[in-house]
Amino acid sequence: MNRKLKNICIVLLFLFGVSASYAQSGTTETTLHDFMEDYTKPASKKAKKGDKAALERILKEVPNWALDDQKVKWKEIADTALASGDLESSCKNCHKEYKKEYKKNYRKRPIQVSNELISFLKNSK
Ligand code: HEC
Repeated sequence: MNRKLKNICIVLLFLFGVSASYAQSGTTETTLHDFMEDYTKPASKKAKKGDKAALERILKEVPNWALDDQKVKWKEIADTALASGDLESSCKNCHKEYKKEYKKNYRKRPIQVSNELISFLKNSK
């Protein structure tokens, strides 16, 4: 391969690497409802079959998407479930307290989910 071509290849590889890591570092905007449907529900199905990794990651992240004055409570609910190993208990505990009001008033509220988490969850579906 001649030198010029080699250099072009190196530059292309570099740009490819930069854009790949950029895609990983960004965030995707969605709503809590869509995230629950698209990722939490399938992760819960997987957890029931014994693979808890995806749901554990979701429960660690979910407090970040709470309304500011509910963050502490959401974290408590998620942490309790993670500590007990009964991950499914979190669904009911959070939904019975917060889902109705959230749905009514914040259905369209955007949340930012890290692309790193999304690609992890996509790969584990
Ligand atoms: C810490 C809070 C929290 C936890 C934990 C949580 N959810 Fe949710 N979930 C919500 C809220 C709030 C909504 C309503 C979002 C909306 O409609 O805008 C929701 C909505 C949903 C929906 C959409 C359909 C519906 O019923 O309205 C599904 C499906 C869902 N959750 C599944 C789950 C599953 C499965 C788990 C447990 C493995 C879980 N969620 C745990 C807060 C939570």
